[in-house]
Amino acid sequence: MSFPTVRLRRLRYSPAVRKLVRETVLSPDRFILPLFVRSGQNIRNPIAAMPGHFQLSVDELVKEAKECVSLGIGGIILFGIPDTKDAGGSEAMNENSIIAQAVRAVKDSLGDKLLVLTDVCFCEYTDHGHCGVVGKTPDGRIDVDNDKTLQNLVRQTLIHARAGADIVAPSGMMDGMIHALRTGLDDAGFSHLPVMSYAAKYASAFYGPFREAAGSAPQFGDRRSYQMDFSASAAQAVREVSLDLEEGADIVMVKPALAYLDIIRMVRDRFEGVPTAAYNVSGEFSMVKAAAERGWIDEKAVVLESLTAITRAGASIILTYWAKDAARWLR
Ligand code: PBG
Repeated sequence: MSFPTVRLRRLRYSPAVRKLVRETVLSPDRFILPLFVRSGQNIRNPIAAMPGHFQLSVDELVKEAKECVSLGIGGIILFGIPDTKDAGGSEAMNENSIIAQAVRAVKDSLGDKLLVLTDVCFCEYTDHGHCGVVGKTPDGRIDVDNDKTLQNLVRQTLIHARAGADIVAPSGMMDGMIHALRTGLDDAGFSHLPVMSYAAKYASAFYGPFREAAGSAPQFGDRRSYQMDFSASAAQAVREVSLDLEEGADIVMVKPALAYLDIIRMVRDRFEGVPTAAYNVSGEFSMVKAAAERGWIDEKAVVLESLTAITRAGASIILTYWAKDAARWLR
């Protein structure tokens, strides 16, 4: 059957009809807001490349978290900015790290009203800015030592767990990372604690503004020996996700989101029933902000269209710097 019997415009003729046949709907309880936390009191240091976002002291972070609850946002993910950095990133393994303080404060004040996720990685804590222990390989290259880094990631994770994190989210793209964390958590009595893996994380220029926000830009080289190559076969993302699931990941993430909608869709189709998250990253945020500030695009319309696209591609959870604005717009 075809035209004139079939007319697809019939299902678009009024707002109510369009609403009836909609399938992709956004819901703030599946948004996660990334937040940056540092030491001090009453501090809200603006992040120049990310208008509306700040490095927050713990007291200010708690205020922000309360606002998230009132907007119906599902969770926050915390990134720590330590006072001191060193080669090993020892501040990340301090029982009273900035993240431990932040998690305790938010949990004390809000309990189960808001999920507190923690990013597990070393790039914010090392003076060289790489995501783990840097050393010389037998063939003379300087690179992140995978297996030594795993041990440190477990220490960092246990600190987050003991502080009361609801979900831990390792983002370092080390091999065997999920297995190491799962085993470490289970041995320490945290077998109930879910792991959200940054499973398919690409070496992306879209992380630029984040590295200013978190002070985590690599001081030499880049992250291409651990994060994925965007020109590699898309099937490699499937392998990454599949291995993480075998190692015990509960939620898998694709990152960035908008330039990788094909990967989100592929993961969704291949791993039915696995919650799939997508990280709408800093560069994706800043580009839209910059264009909106110039009046070149309509921020609200572009953001809701983008978040819908990420959802339609198959993400059930979205990490986004627009979580609060989008929650307001959706009211
Ligand atoms: C690593 C980490 C990064 C982001 C989240 N976790 C930076 C990186 O890999 O260099 C980027 C997030 C964003 O750009 O919004 N801890």
